[in-house]
Amino acid sequence: MSNLFDLSDKVIAITGAAGVLAGGTAKYLQEQGAYVIYLDLFEEVVDKTVEEAKKISDKCCGYACNVLDQTALDAVYEKLMANLGRLDVLINGAGGNMPGATIGPDQDVFDLKIEAYSKVLDLNLKGTVMPTMTFAKAFKAQKSGCVINFSSMSATQALTRVLGYSNAKAAIDNFTRWMATEMAVKYGDKVRVNALAPGFFIGNQNRALLINEDGSFTERGQQVINKTPFRRFGEQHEVYGTIHFLISEAAAFVSGVIIPVDGGFSAYTGV
Ligand SMILES: NC(=O)c1ccc[n+]([C@@H]2O[C@H](COP(=O)([O-])OP(=O)(O)OC[C@H]3O[C@@H](n4cnc5c(N)ncnc54)[C@H](O)[C@@H]3O)[C@@H](O)[C@H]2O)c1
Repeated sequence: MSNLFDLSDKVIAITGAAGVLAGGTAKYLQEQGAYVIYLDLFEEVVDKTVEEAKKISDKCCGYACNVLDQTALDAVYEKLMANLGRLDVLINGAGGNMPGATIGPDQDVFDLKIEAYSKVLDLNLKGTVMPTMTFAKAFKAQKSGCVINFSSMSATQALTRVLGYSNAKAAIDNFTRWMATEMAVKYGDKVRVNALAPGFFIGNQNRALLINEDGSFTERGQQVINKTPFRRFGEQHEVYGTIHFLISEAAAFVSGVIIPVDGGFSAYTGV
């Protein structure tokens, strides 16, 4: 039997590819021999990211592309199809919470500004739905392809202070199942849609919420650790294997699932 985990002929587009988890994953997948298309907000950042990625191999390119801008998404999709002729995988990595949408320690839900709530809903939900509706057209045409979404622990359990983010990630779980069904029923069993739900990884968006400047945990950071049986935060590279599995032939009969990568957080009551 051939190597079920071989990625060497895969063409993979990744949004948020200058970020921590999606960016690290993009480089890892390129190291495994895949051709990787790096997509992120700003041209300067994308250029720098691709310059770094070229040190791994020539099998990469990048485009500035706002996941909420349909014109930009269409333009990238057309360039991609013209230059590479096909796409095998879309990883929707752009997303995250926004400071304005976090309910402060001395506030409650009634202080939350609906504009900030809407922005975070848009980035995390529409910012996954719009690229999927654009790039998965290739999967419809090819009758093969794979989408990976990023959910979160906040999708299924109440995570205080981040209402919009939580609502959006719950909708990502639903969208993952919905789209997995739609694609398989209409285009066959070679089109799969799955997600991973990372636990707590230190990144740009949550560092200040979880870790003090002196390296000790904030009260919230300590609460997270107390509910994580591994008693630590995740390390960036610990999401790579789950994504590798989900996009490989090893997961050929897997669609519509959301895999927690969380050191046991979702399994544990905390007691
Ligand atoms: N870090 C964690 O602990 C954690 C936990 C659970 C889920 N997640 C999810 O994983 C995903 C990646 O998170 P991360 O921590 O690597 O985030 P990150 O902030 O490091 O990266 C996000 C990237 O998305 C880009 N981006 C933001 N808005 C964009 C837009 N409109 N168009 C295109 N790109 C845009 C940013 O420029 C950034 O490079 C997110 O969906 C996040 O919600 C992260």
